[in-house]
Amino acid sequence: MKERINVFDYAEQITKMLPEGILLNTCGDKFNSMVIGWGHLGVIWGLPTFTVYVRQSRYTREQLDRTREFTVSAPTEGRLGKEVFRICGSESGRDVDKEKAAHLTLAAPQVIRTPGILEYPLTLECRVLYRQDQVITEMPEEIRKKYYTRLPDPDDFHTAYIGEIVSAYIIRGD
Ligand SMILES: Cc1cc2nc3c(=O)[nH]c(=O)nc-3n(C[C@H](O)[C@H](O)[C@H](O)COP(=O)(O)O)c2cc1C
Repeated sequence: MKERINVFDYAEQITKMLPEGILLNTCGDKFNSMVIGWGHLGVIWGLPTFTVYVRQSRYTREQLDRTREFTVSAPTEGRLGKEVFRICGSESGRDVDKEKAAHLTLAAPQVIRTPGILEYPLTLECRVLYRQDQVITEMPEEIRKKYYTRLPDPDDFHTAYIGEIVSAYIIRGD
């Protein structure tokens, strides 16, 4: 069962959980989930939106660019399990089937084609409205140095994907 919610009633909960990690799910060739620590819940063009920031190198990015949709999954209590955090936050969907490796139980979506996750019931279904590559020269020097020079690939910048929230609910396991 899915209990529909007004996503803005959960703004504080989602925002506070972000730094600890929640999940961004995509479903192209296969279902894949990655930990995100950055994101924004808000409004643009009169629509409720969740914006995610995905580096060029992520498998998630390949899937997002093709399907132009994603789900966000978050726990209603506590935080992500240790193994889920490790697998989804450091391994790539190019090498690993994370659904299996992290023992995720997929839940059928309501509006889009990307499932949610039973174990992390707070779910936002999002359709990409807009994407924007970061322009490195437009950011403060200290941020550029901290996030975009120490990598094996200094061009591994983020792309912002603004997703319209087309459905928001809590999955109840019955
Ligand atoms: C706490 C935490 C937050 C993260 N936040 C982001 C993020 O917002 N954007 C991003 O591109 N990667 C982020 N990552 C890194 C990805 O989760 C990680 O590289 C993942 O393995 C990518 O999976 P994929 O290649 O299957 O897409 C974060 C990792 C952790 C542990």
